[in-house]
Amino acid sequence: MLFKFKPEIPSSEITDEKLYNNRRQFLKVGAMATIGGSLLPSSVLAAGRAAFFKGPDDLTPYEVVTSYNNFYEFGTGKDEPKKNATRFKTDPWKVSVEGEVEKPQVWDLDELIDGLATQEKVYRHRCVEGWSMVVPWNGFPLKDLITRLKPTAKAKFVEFTTLHDSRRMPGQLSPVLQWPYVEALRLDEAMNPLTLMVTGVYGKKLPPQNGAPIRLIIPWKYGFKGGKSIVKIRFTEKQPRTTWNIAIPREYGFYANVNPKVDHPRWTQAKERRLGEFTRRDTLMFNGYTAEVEKLYAGMDLRKNY
Ligand code: MTE
Repeated sequence: MLFKFKPEIPSSEITDEKLYNNRRQFLKVGAMATIGGSLLPSSVLAAGRAAFFKGPDDLTPYEVVTSYNNFYEFGTGKDEPKKNATRFKTDPWKVSVEGEVEKPQVWDLDELIDGLATQEKVYRHRCVEGWSMVVPWNGFPLKDLITRLKPTAKAKFVEFTTLHDSRRMPGQLSPVLQWPYVEALRLDEAMNPLTLMVTGVYGKKLPPQNGAPIRLIIPWKYGFKGGKSIVKIRFTEKQPRTTWNIAIPREYGFYANVNPKVDHPRWTQAKERRLGEFTRRDTLMFNGYTAEVEKLYAGMDLRKNY
């Protein structure tokens, strides 16, 4: 039997690591029974690498999710954020809410998100570089926060800014990007129920390398849209400028929807490598979330709006 991906597994069921591990063990065994027998030489399995072979959409192990990261504020190597962010302090944490909003204000993070119902969402996580994971995030729909903040009728976009402090984020001493890291969404994208403000992963507090204490996840977009360690949320009338688009506009658009038919100028986006797998798999339109999001882009040319 192959295990089908469930886009939204209720948080009530699985929150502690022991349960996750049990489930992983279970999925692993299932995947071996299916894939191991037919496709893989037994010598490979015997070599103890079976743990790396997975079913269609198994969870990526916690250790991988938290040690293979993009967070240039802590270095450009995938292993650097984990090493360089160990002492990153995220408490207390302030978030400034600005722009087209009823009451602009600087909030303590705890107060800003107090009472918003946290859920677990298992999402595919697809990086523009061509790798992907499946991650059980913990957080609340961004729409719940936006509703609380009451943007004005003029607000059409919402922008997210990462902390800018090179003493705490040594990667910002390098001019590899324009700091601070800024990302933004159209307001209707932000209000889509899939868009998540993330404060945890695998039922644990979000580690610094994954964007503690709060980051954004938009599962139908390339990972770079999901800004980490957010200190400012600004509502705007005009489309904000965003970090990767400023850096290399021809390669990184504002929308950044996962789209196997629109290649990156330097590589294909039709395939991806799920971390832990050897063969590349097909990338899905909108990362597999077409039913939930295609209406947002009705009538738009997705080649132009990449
Ligand atoms: N946010 C900030 N502030 N800085 C970054 O370098 N990298 C982005 C995104 N958010 C990045 C960021 C990219 S390219 C990806 S793929 C995801 O974070 C990676 O998230 P993860 O490390 O939790 O998998």
